Amino acid sequence: MASSKDKAAQLREYIFSQPASDLANNPWAVSNAIETFADTHGLKMIFRGDKLELARKQIMAQKPAPRTIIEFGTFVGKSALAWGAILRDIHGASLPADAKVYTFETDPVMVALARDLVKLAGLEGTVHVLEGPGSESLQKLVTDGAVQSVDMAFFDHWEEFYLPDLQLVERLKLWRVGSLAIADNTDYPGAPAYRQYVQDGGSGLPGAVKYESRSLETPGVKQGPSIVEVSKVLAVEAVFSLIIINKAGGLIYQREFQAGLRKLSTNDYLVLAGTFHGVHAITRSITPKMPLAPTASSPAASSPSTSTPASSGYAYPIPGVAATGIEELETDKFRLTCFQTMTGTKFLLFTDPMSGNVEVIINKIYELYADYVMKNPFYQLEMPVRCEAFDRHLGAWLRGRT
Ligand SMILES: C[S@@+](CC[C@H](N)C(=O)[O-])C[C@H]1O[C@@H](n2cnc3c(N)ncnc32)[C@H](O)[C@@H]1O
Repeated sequence: MASSKDKAAQLREYIFSQPASDLANNPWAVSNAIETFADTHGLKMIFRGDKLELARKQIMAQKPAPRTIIEFGTFVGKSALAWGAILRDIHGASLPADAKVYTFETDPVMVALARDLVKLAGLEGTVHVLEGPGSESLQKLVTDGAVQSVDMAFFDHWEEFYLPDLQLVERLKLWRVGSLAIADNTDYPGAPAYRQYVQDGGSGLPGAVKYESRSLETPGVKQGPSIVEVSKVLAVEAVFSLIIINKAGGLIYQREFQAGLRKLSTNDYLVLAGTFHGVHAITRSITPKMPLAPTASSPAASSPSTSTPASSGYAYPIPGVAATGIEELETDKFRLTCFQTMTGTKFLLFTDPMSGNVEVIINKIYELYADYVMKNPFYQLEMPVRCEAFDRHLGAWLRGRT
């Protein structure tokens, strides 16, 4: 029986013996030619037919339209070509610069073949075939800043890696709400741990990614695995946006970290900053003070009948600790956390109400602010923050890259 490497060599010969005009710069034509070869030469393992059509419909329906697709398991590049073709169908031939497919393959023979087929299909600038274990390639893409979020991840390598690699996508904070994890072969040979995990909706830990998963049957598939597991991301541990207000209540920084947030105008943000500043001051001033406990040396201590405190005999419950004002506001959709510095600058962080670790995030933001704003010799106190290094490090840290 021919090995998959022999089959790959035969496929190369078959494809490159076709008239170039039929296939060049035509991803669907190359993809279809691979299917024809598979039918006539018994090439297995490719993602095709009803399953591919099912996945295509899911991707086409994504809102906002997908841009970044990653794939674990390239093999000859059949499914990677299809993802590239789908991105072209969605965005048109002049794809946006960040519309990319990154596909991972350990076998160098397959990597070489897939790259040649991608080139033939005219998808060189869109589909990138990376050699090595998918987990390592993905980590590197994130470290290099090439991938910041993922709209669809396709799991089609060896099944024992499905769950660890899905969890890596979570740890790298690449999911957005609405992203898709699509997996083949979860029924046969089977990826039970992965299937259980997505069907349980994720790890279930506070603030963790939540999935809604369906095992979709493809009745047209007569032999072998017939299920495609499609899992949609319902929630991520999300930092939505950050506002910084100076000590006079003026808005000095505003940034959104998630696509698809409801847009506010600059004026709305200015009003929000001023209003919050005022309400914060009121909540601080109405914080109740407690009567001071009589000290041993005070006359009140020796004469209980005169224990009414003098007007100056009140203090906040913990002496020496000033009242803080509002620290948190929460709705069922977001939580606003306020951190005020000693000098009166306020950091307002909007997060998912399920997110944990908000204090850690705020502390880190403050640290970055101190390093890249306060130490910037061109920054004038109380003025709008326009520091590129702060923006860059903040974005990178929130995406889990540093
Ligand atoms: C089922 S095939 C992929 C089929 C391909 N998606 C298609 O439709 O044409 C699985 C491939 O995953 C590769 N693979 C296995 N483990 C991998 C890993 N950890 N990282 C990257 N590729 C891996 C194998 O070498 C094999 O070529």
